[in-house]
Amino acid sequence: MAVGVVIVAAGSGSRLGANVPKAFVTVAGRPLLWYAVRAALRSRPAAVVVAAPATHLDDANEAIDALRGEHGIPVQVVPGGAERGDSVLAATRWLPAECEVVLVHDAARAFTPSEVFERVAAAVTAQTPAVVPVLPVVDTIKVVDADGFVVRTADRDTLRIVQTPQGFRRDVLLEAHRLHGSLATDDAGLVERLGLRVGTVPGDPMALKVTTPEDLDYADRLVASADWAGSSAAALKPS
Ligand code: CTP
Ligand code: MG
Repeated sequence: MAVGVVIVAAGSGSRLGANVPKAFVTVAGRPLLWYAVRAALRSRPAAVVVAAPATHLDDANEAIDALRGEHGIPVQVVPGGAERGDSVLAATRWLPAECEVVLVHDAARAFTPSEVFERVAAAVTAQTPAVVPVLPVVDTIKVVDADGFVVRTADRDTLRIVQTPQGFRRDVLLEAHRLHGSLATDDAGLVERLGLRVGTVPGDPMALKVTTPEDLDYADRLVASADWAGSSAAALKPS
């Protein structure tokens, strides 16, 4: 099945507080969007569509210009919407009809290795209609009441941290957004509301989401140190 990647990059990045939308903030001289598109292309999908802020379409095209034609894969930039879900739908509409599998990825998770895209795509292709990359929870998690008192300790073994790209059969993604679009914070959450089972594959610590200035500092150090985590960090460096 042909795989299409949607990269949502239309947010403003209010928590990061930079003077440009988050996707255009640079690490080692390259915008976050460039890293995200490069990783997606390295997983060899049939097409990539980027949802960018409507005010910054030229900047988005410029950011990824050097990657155009890489592996002969088309990359298109389209205007995103007011909410993340609007951006997902806007970009998905532009994917070629042959793309029956859609991977939805946050540009803010710019340093996600291409292997994660490949794992998610393979699991959807192998008949799981929705798949999310996850990490185990290492901290102890407590449920508290409104006054901050501990109600109970969660069973860590049943908890996972969820990342992107999240993968879907295209019809399932569209149906989930049509019925429940405004309700969940992630796309898989909408599929859960359809009553479908959502599968998991291993995520990667490098798929961290850049949200705050501290995250950006961390990403800077990550890309600067080619030794960190061996070859996967080396693969991050702009060339
Ligand atoms: N996103 C989008 N369209 C929106 C809102 C968010 O495409 N209307 C994208 C962001 O660009 C980001 C991803 O969804 O890649 C995850 O969102 P988040 O990390 O919350 O980014 P922002 O919304 O830009 O940040 P903030 O919430 O701090 O303003
Ligand atoms: Mg947001």
